Amino acid sequence: MSNAVQQNAHSGLLPAAALRHFLQFKDFSRDEILYVLDRARLIKEKFKRYEPHRPLYDRTLAMVFEKASTRTRVSFEAGMYQMGGSVIHLTTTDSQLGRAEPIEDTARVVSRMVDVVMIRTFEQTRIERFASHSRVPVINGLTNEFHPCQILADILTFIEHRQDIAGKIVTWVGDANNMAYTWLQAAELLGFTLHVSAPEGYRLDPARVGSVGPGVLKEFSDPHEACRGAHLVTTDVWTSMGYEAENEVRRQAFAHWCVDADMMAQAATDALFMHCLPAHRGEEVSGAVIDGPQSVVWEEAENRLHAQKALLEFLLLGRLD
Ligand code: CP
Ligand code: NVA
Repeated sequence: MSNAVQQNAHSGLLPAAALRHFLQFKDFSRDEILYVLDRARLIKEKFKRYEPHRPLYDRTLAMVFEKASTRTRVSFEAGMYQMGGSVIHLTTTDSQLGRAEPIEDTARVVSRMVDVVMIRTFEQTRIERFASHSRVPVINGLTNEFHPCQILADILTFIEHRQDIAGKIVTWVGDANNMAYTWLQAAELLGFTLHVSAPEGYRLDPARVGSVGPGVLKEFSDPHEACRGAHLVTTDVWTSMGYEAENEVRRQAFAHWCVDADMMAQAATDALFMHCLPAHRGEEVSGAVIDGPQSVVWEEAENRLHAQKALLEFLLLGRLD
């Protein structure tokens, strides 16, 4: 954790909070993740009761999108307004980022004018470069490598249904992508076991996985076997943003990695199904599963709002208990 303090446009007027970023899930300790999830539940309850919660009055979030988004944009934008703040939305095409202004210079400038920045981009190194030149917290809204805000919402959803995720089995079916690697970080941090099944050529990279024990990660070539005993089965698109040129090849490689009723039947009888969305019915998941009784995908999507409001509050105001 950095000892640097936030020095934004308000510097000198307010007590400075320690500068923290959320670039990957493991940037937070287990205790901090559990704190944010607790706050998310409280903030959600207040929202459901129409009780105002505006601790971020006069704070500004800048969002930088270098890839498309529906959920991430709407949840951050709505969340920031609901907490009394405001939002600036930038994309590559309508900012100087699209005309090759260095990301470091963009970070230096933007972080003098706003209180927090969310970025959705390609390489993780790009968001790291931004963060290392930012005076304010930076949040990863998805990179090729990680999607930590989504996993925060997914775990909030799991806890709402099943109380605790520690000791449980989460099965990842499909591409070892940004979501899969973030689930892996969460498994290490929160003490559950991640089963992963991906076709040859799309499996986890041992160099990125490092040394984790079988209590954290088990890999399977057969997705049905991976689902055995799972408390949660989850998947994602076969082709993530930025990899569209591989679409046809992937379609063939992933043909047997569709989460359908047979696969769900291997899991615990009360297993949940999640998908970060957008989904392609008939590809990575059957319509019967995603629209069936075990699916919690709409709550999962809604929880992006509540989890990120808690995240913004924590990054800007620290712990409030
Ligand atoms: N799950 C998710 O991040 O959705 P968007 O791409 O719509 O933001
Ligand atoms: N893995 C997907 C997630 C989309 C929210 C992607 O990166 O495109």
